[in-house]
Amino acid sequence: MTEDQPILQLDGLEVRYGAVPAVHDVSLTVNPGEVVGLIGPNGAGKSTTLHSIMGLTKPSSGDVRLKGQSIMGMSPEEIVRLGLALVPEGRHIFSEFTVEENMRLGTMARRTSKGLSEDLEWVKSLFPVVGEFSGRIAGHLSGGQQQQLAIARALVSKPDLILLDEPTLGLAPSVVSVLFEALAEVRRGGVTILLVEQRAQQTIAFADRTHVMRDGRLTMTLSAEDSTEIDRLTAAYFG
Ligand SMILES: Nc1ncnc2c1ncn2[C@@H]1O[C@H](COP(=O)(O)OP(=O)(O)OP(=O)(O)O)[C@@H](O)[C@H]1O
Ligand SMILES: [Mg+2]
Repeated sequence: MTEDQPILQLDGLEVRYGAVPAVHDVSLTVNPGEVVGLIGPNGAGKSTTLHSIMGLTKPSSGDVRLKGQSIMGMSPEEIVRLGLALVPEGRHIFSEFTVEENMRLGTMARRTSKGLSEDLEWVKSLFPVVGEFSGRIAGHLSGGQQQQLAIARALVSKPDLILLDEPTLGLAPSVVSVLFEALAEVRRGGVTILLVEQRAQQTIAFADRTHVMRDGRLTMTLSAEDSTEIDRLTAAYFG
């Protein structure tokens, strides 16, 4: 195992729900420190891809490798222990628990307690809600604050790679901008990110490269410079 090998590699990933293929022949690589985007319309297979990586959905063929090691067939718990964290679509915080209790669940998933207080301080500086509203019931927070908490909780588990499933879904544009700024800080902190989004332009501008997914397949890969090319983008989505 070397430091510069990819963190994540999908190789010919195929996922079916019954007879229906939801993900077909998807191959992609995420290198350490990168932000890779995955965009596409509703039903494209983005969430299914993330769920397969986490071991929540079983692929019918292909391979998922983490730092060179195949994780196919492993349980989600084992995969979390190997350094992956998923922030699922729809946030899934524990809404009856306080912010602090939610954060404690995140810290429990850590592989080491070393550096915990520094990491907590860092996460609080990125997501002020964690410090400012620590005693508040999570379900009483605004949508944007709940999303901040969901990401903060994943970050204190100190993953090597964080998978984000539509973190800006349902948020007002001003809140979306704040979230992207926080994600830029997360990236500067050295966390590798696989970002699933429907906000194409912002994601393409933010990520090192962005794969477009349609009907279960990767149809195109765009770089940050492409984010201003509306025609190409539109074609990638609807063409
Ligand atoms: N549990 C399931 N059982 C059967 N079919 C499913 C299941 N989950 C997803 N699908 C189907 O698989 C396809 C891909 O769905 P998926 O949720 O991965 O898409 P998505 O790109 O995440 O969409 P969205 O942007 O709406 O979240 C869709 O046709 C969907 O209807
Ligand atoms: Mg989805």
